[in-house]
Amino acid sequence: MSSEVKRVLGPDRPLKPSGTVGFSSLPDQLVNRCTENGFDFNVLCIGETGCGKSTLMDSLFKTEFEDIKSKRHSSTSKVGLDCSTYVLKESQISLRLTLVHTESFGDQINKGESCEQISKYVDDQFERYLQAEMASGIRNLHGLHDTRIHACLYFVSPTGHSIKALDLKCMEALHRKVNIIPLIAKADTISIDELQGFKSRIMGEINANNIEIYHFPADDKVVSAVNKANNERLPFAIVGSREKVKVGNEHVRARQYPWGVVQVENENHCDFTRLRDMLIRTNMDDLREKTHHYCYEMYRRRRLQEMGYIDVSNLSDMKASYEKERAAMIETFRRKEEEIRDHYMQLVKEKDEELKRKEQDLLKGFEKTKKERSEEKKILDKQRKTLDEEITAFSRKRQEWEAQHADRLK
Ligand code: GTP
Repeated sequence: MSSEVKRVLGPDRPLKPSGTVGFSSLPDQLVNRCTENGFDFNVLCIGETGCGKSTLMDSLFKTEFEDIKSKRHSSTSKVGLDCSTYVLKESQISLRLTLVHTESFGDQINKGESCEQISKYVDDQFERYLQAEMASGIRNLHGLHDTRIHACLYFVSPTGHSIKALDLKCMEALHRKVNIIPLIAKADTISIDELQGFKSRIMGEINANNIEIYHFPADDKVVSAVNKANNERLPFAIVGSREKVKVGNEHVRARQYPWGVVQVENENHCDFTRLRDMLIRTNMDDLREKTHHYCYEMYRRRRLQEMGYIDVSNLSDMKASYEKERAAMIETFRRKEEEIRDHYMQLVKEKDEELKRKEQDLLKGFEKTKKERSEEKKILDKQRKTLDEEITAFSRKRQEWEAQHADRLK
């Protein structure tokens, strides 16, 4: 039989079955399965101590996550990761929410270690999923408690100046592993004018360092406009509160000050509602998808390559991914080289300064010794002169004495 294709029946030929077949229930089947299984959603909150991480989580999910506060301990020797899981229910849908908070972030002397620990935690969750996949032999494990991080809320301290070097370093370590959404913490402490400048400086630094933050997807027509508009507003300026204040006839989440009230859910006061809409209501599924199909996939491929497996089914993708990783690796090497060069230049500069200092010290020592020797020489010259005079005086006296006693000496 010839393998040549004689006729192609394209997908554009609508056919109507004469009766109900049943595939219209497919969306319902999907919804039922998802409803039954529930969803996992895992949020990693990174930010300096006391920047408002847990207050924001309480505000976002309209509850009080007691355990986070009671389990808290403070250690400045290394960054801690406080991890708690809760099951939230809303209209028969259950959400297994895992909140991971950094503790003592940025309080250490060796700040670089903080980033490594967080990065390792993220990798550990990928590894756990990979091992489960390999053990079961199937992909997309629906029954497994998925602990991979779907969203990383990165709290930038409200300095009003610029983003800190530690934040850039940490984002750089994580941006290909998690969906980073940058936030300005405690935005009520910055004036409106300062806030705009601060936002653009943060984004400028992020872009200049080639850090890929999460962008709300603009390819879905339904949400494209709102997502695009919100991408423009990043980083979101956030205010959180556990207090309720009476505004008009309503009790609303707000922070009360002697001069007025900052309402958490008022779009004119801060970007809290935008964050909640973007994170939970509009893009939660995209965050989960991107984590699985992009962040985890990159990790999985790298690990499979390390283990010596070749994923034949995705060879072209692998090539693209390999090229991308290679480019990233070259870039990393280039930066490392620059770092080493800078470090070396710094060392040379320090050594040079040290040598100059030593030379100066030697010169000073030499001058001092020279001065001392000259002083000693002066004293010696003086003593010699005195001695010469004494010898002359003695010789004169001797001659006089000899002259006086010449007859006796004969
Ligand atoms: P650690 O877990 O210890 O790092 O703290 P955290 O980052 O979870 O901060 P937390 O939510 O405990 O808030 C610390 C303090 O900041 C509390 O007194 C909060 O009331 C206050 N706070 C939280 N959010 C805001 C905010 O948006 N603006 C202002 N001004 N204060 C806030």
